[in-house]
Amino acid sequence: MRSTVRKSADVASAKADLLVVTLGAPVKGLTGPAAELDAALGGLVAAAVKDGEIDGKTGSATRFHAGDRLAATRVLVAGVGEGSTDDWRAAGAAAAAVSGRVATRSAAIVPPGDASAAQVGAFIEGFGVGLHRLERFKTADGSRKASPERIAVHSAMLRTADMRRADRIVEAVNGARDLCDTPSNHLTPTMLGERARELAAATPGLTCRVLDRARLEKMGAGALLGVAQGSQEPPRMIVLRYRPAKVARPGEVLGLVGKAVTFDTGGISIKPSSGMEEMKLDMGGGAAVLEGAALIAALGLPVEFIAVIPATENMPSGTAIKPGDVVTAMNGRTIEVINTDAEGRLILADALCYASGQGATRMLDFATLTGAIVVALGEVYAGLFGSDDDWTALVREAGETSGDLAWPMPLHERYAPLIKSAVADLSNSSNKRQAGAVYAAQFLREFTDGLPWCHVDIAGTGMVGGKGTGFGVRLILAVAERLATPL
Ligand code: BES
Ligand code: MN
Ligand code: ZN
Repeated sequence: MRSTVRKSADVASAKADLLVVTLGAPVKGLTGPAAELDAALGGLVAAAVKDGEIDGKTGSATRFHAGDRLAATRVLVAGVGEGSTDDWRAAGAAAAAVSGRVATRSAAIVPPGDASAAQVGAFIEGFGVGLHRLERFKTADGSRKASPERIAVHSAMLRTADMRRADRIVEAVNGARDLCDTPSNHLTPTMLGERARELAAATPGLTCRVLDRARLEKMGAGALLGVAQGSQEPPRMIVLRYRPAKVARPGEVLGLVGKAVTFDTGGISIKPSSGMEEMKLDMGGGAAVLEGAALIAALGLPVEFIAVIPATENMPSGTAIKPGDVVTAMNGRTIEVINTDAEGRLILADALCYASGQGATRMLDFATLTGAIVVALGEVYAGLFGSDDDWTALVREAGETSGDLAWPMPLHERYAPLIKSAVADLSNSSNKRQAGAVYAAQFLREFTDGLPWCHVDIAGTGMVGGKGTGFGVRLILAVAERLATPL
């Protein structure tokens, strides 16, 4: 979906299958586009407001068929509550839900004259992401309503360039959702590597290298290789780099790392079969990092980065890694694999080592890592762990403004006994049923080489209702935008 700005801006003459007019809460009389609409509809909007049927609350959406009173076929009054970007994003999502119920080939919005580019951009984000469906695997589905390719923004104040950012965000978030929702037989680690190459080729300044098994063996990435050894599908370590000519903070290299287990059966420590299909989504961190990295480059932010995505399946087989086996990570640390289902931290260990070895000066990783974070924080907040207060504060703030929320969780030396092993330097799982998400983070920290590092556990926020959410893409962009300002 693409947005275009049209200067002609009156409600009665805007042509579209679905025209959106927004209203804040509480409704204090009708002004601007809402008043124009009310006039065209002979007072219907004011009557609905009086009745309490329209209250302007965030996410509310009231639809009218316009008959011949407007150039548009139907109109939607969408609530934007107090007017935060989150409110406008929710209004966009509500409009997308309505548009899914009636055939909509074209959409338009007439924002109030004082609406900012950020607000209207957030609406476009919510609308574009809300419209998105995975349709590749449906043959001729007659029940599917037409969905708009374009949304026209009727405004004399905004510029098309303002809306391009929103279009790109939509593209990246939907790209990540597509990768997540794609079944594992249609998205193997090899195919994910190909996809990364294509995306890099289409993005000026972004380069991509895909490391194969032979290369990983030479590097000593024994933790990733250990997880991968049970699968017929070879692993990949996908590496994206962006070195813009102009950087805001010379010497700074952002290291992005994202877990991409294209299917997690649990391995020999196999998961229950009920609901296991959702484990095709266990690459949400990698998808967010891939699309988020491409987004930073596409927007040309003056931020150098290296993005590392370890990709593998986690399968049980005659060649699979077994409980009690010991592997050696890239930094030489040995790990006793107590539970083969704690595979995410293993592949991230090597990826973090690789990113710091390649010059990252601060790191940020995303992973659908633990069921424990789902229990702790649910689908709303991701878990945020960090080794450096300033860096963690920056990531947390970026979460609040982007809508990809992340709540601080503790790390502490007193948790260290959990990751001890009698046999090796570390163990990947503890028998104590405690602090599962902290445990995983404490383990990852051992591979960060003392750099400022944040870990975002997105097991709850990255998959909702059996679908990928694209969580992390906007957070990565918001973090990069902060690093794009000189210190
Ligand atoms: N991919 C899972 C985590 C997960 C669970 C994501 C539920 C989304 C929903 C991860 O690899 C895993 O299996 N974690 C185990 C770790 C345990 C064995 C220490 C878990 O959380 O149960
Ligand atoms: Mn697992
Ligand atoms: Zn997993």
